[in-house]
Amino acid sequence: MSRRAFLSQTGKVAAAYPAMLALGMLQPAPAHAFDLPGNGNGKRIVILGAGLAGLTAAYELTKLGYQCTLLEARNRAGGRCWSIRRGAVHHETDIAPQTASFDDGMYFNAGPSRIPHHHELTMHYCRELQVPIQVYNNVNEATYFFSEGKNGPLSNRKIRSREIRNDLRGYTMELLAKAIDQHQIDTGLSKEDSQKILEYLRAEGGLDLDKLYKASDRRGFIEQPGAGNKAGKIGDPHKLADIISSGLADPDFYNVAEYTYELQMTMFQAIGGMDTIAKAFEQRVGKMVRYNCEVTDILNLPEGVKILYKDKKGPGELQADLCICTLPLPVLSNIRHNFSSDVSRAIDYVPYMVTGKIGMQFKRRFWEEDEQIFGGITHTNNELTQIFYPSYDYLSKKGILLGYYNFHDKAKRVGNLSHAEREKLALEKGSLIHPQYPKEFETSFSVSWHKTPYSMGGWAIYTGINRQTLYKSLLQPDKQVYFAGEHTTYLNAWMAGAFESARRTVADVHARMTNQRVSYPTANGS
Ligand code: ALA
Repeated sequence: MSRRAFLSQTGKVAAAYPAMLALGMLQPAPAHAFDLPGNGNGKRIVILGAGLAGLTAAYELTKLGYQCTLLEARNRAGGRCWSIRRGAVHHETDIAPQTASFDDGMYFNAGPSRIPHHHELTMHYCRELQVPIQVYNNVNEATYFFSEGKNGPLSNRKIRSREIRNDLRGYTMELLAKAIDQHQIDTGLSKEDSQKILEYLRAEGGLDLDKLYKASDRRGFIEQPGAGNKAGKIGDPHKLADIISSGLADPDFYNVAEYTYELQMTMFQAIGGMDTIAKAFEQRVGKMVRYNCEVTDILNLPEGVKILYKDKKGPGELQADLCICTLPLPVLSNIRHNFSSDVSRAIDYVPYMVTGKIGMQFKRRFWEEDEQIFGGITHTNNELTQIFYPSYDYLSKKGILLGYYNFHDKAKRVGNLSHAEREKLALEKGSLIHPQYPKEFETSFSVSWHKTPYSMGGWAIYTGINRQTLYKSLLQPDKQVYFAGEHTTYLNAWMAGAFESARRTVADVHARMTNQRVSYPTANGS
C-alpha cells in the first residue's frame, strides 16, 4: 500500500499519528515539545513541595493558565537539589545544626551533582531557563583504589585506578585467550571467528603477541617519559593473586563508572552549583511558593481537595480543585490523609536510600598539584566509599572535595555520628590516601539525607515486586490528588525523574481539567 493510500484509509491524521511514527514517516516529538492544547482558565492547583518536581509542575501549569500555589516546608526551594555555600544551615533529626563556613564563592552539591548527557529533559530545562552547564568529569584513571584492612600486599595502600583496572582487564583477557587457545571452552564459533575473538582479547587486554599480559603504558609509568634520553619506565603489573587477596577485585571496587548507562561520559553539572537549576525555576514561579509551610493533612473532598498546614502564623488551610503531591514518601508517611489503602501502603513501604556526603574545603588543591587528579572518583572499601574531586575551578587555589559519598550500612553508621565526628572520620580515613589532609584542611559540612527533615532519604528504591505493586498505585491519582517526584518514575535518584514526572502529571491534570485525552510524550521513549 502506498503511504497516500494508507493515509486516506486511516482517515484523520490524529488517528494515523502512531502508525505514521511506526512507519518512520514522522520524527517523534523532541523532549521540549510540550504544547498541550486548551487552557486551565484559572483553576486552582495546590502543589505540595517546591523541589524540582513541584517547581516544574508549577512552571508548566502556569503556562497553561492554571493558578498554582506551592506549599514548601523549608525556607528555600529546590528540595534535595541543594548546593552548600557559606551560611547554609542544616538540621538533622537528632544532632545539633551546622552552618557552612566555606569561603565565599565556594560550594559543593549535597544532592544531585551530575547530569547524564541522555537526560534530554534536564538538558532542555537548562537550555530554556538559561542555566549554563559544564562537563562533569565522572571517569578518571588517575584516581585511586584504596582497600583497607585486607591481608594482601596491596591492602592499606593507595593504588592508581589505571593500574588495577588495566591489570585486571589484562589478566582476565589472558585467561580467556588461554581457555580458547587450549580448547577448554566451546566458543560455538568457527575457527576464523574464534581467531578474531582472540585478536580482540589481545587488543582489549593489552596482551603481548604471545597473548600474555605483561603490562603496558596503559597502567602508567613509574618514571615519566620526557626529553632527550628519558624514555620513561613502566612498572611490573601487580600479581593477580595479590590483587584478589588485597580485596581489590571485591564488589567495593567493581568498575561502574564507564559501564553504567547513567554514568557514562559525557556528564554535566550546572556552573556555580546544581541548585542554580532550582533557582532558575524559582525566579519564574517563586511568587507562588509559601515557604516555612508544613503540610499536616491532605484530604480529598467530594469535589476538590483540602490541605491543612502549619506556618509561622500557626495552623492554616487551603482548598483547591486538584493537588499535586511531590513530597518524598517517608515524609508523606507522617502526614494525615484519606487516601486508598493501596496508595497508603505504597507511601509507608517503599524503601529509600540511606546516603550521606561531606564537603571538605582545603586551602590547596593538592590532588591536582601533587597528584594530577582533575575530577573523578577514588573508591574505597571503608566508610568513605568514594572521594569525588571537583570538576570545576581547576588550577585555582582552594577547592572543596567530597570527602565521602556513601550508601546503606556505611552511610547509616556515619550518619549516626555528630557533624564533628563525621569530619574527624573523613579526615582520618582520607589521610590514609592523601597525607596532605591534616595540613591543608579548613572546614567541612555534612548531610545525611535519611536524617534530613522533609527528605528522609536519598531516593526511592524499587526492587522486583514493588515495581508491580506499590509503584503502580502511585501512578494514578487518588481522587483529586496526583503524585509526582522521582519516586513515580524509572529515573530514581535523578533530577530527570523530577522533570519527567512533573510533565507526566501536568499532562494528566490538564487532560482532566479540559476533558481531553492526552498521552504524555516522554523523552527517550522512557
Ligand atoms: N544520581 C545519583 C548520583 O549521581 C545516584 O550519585
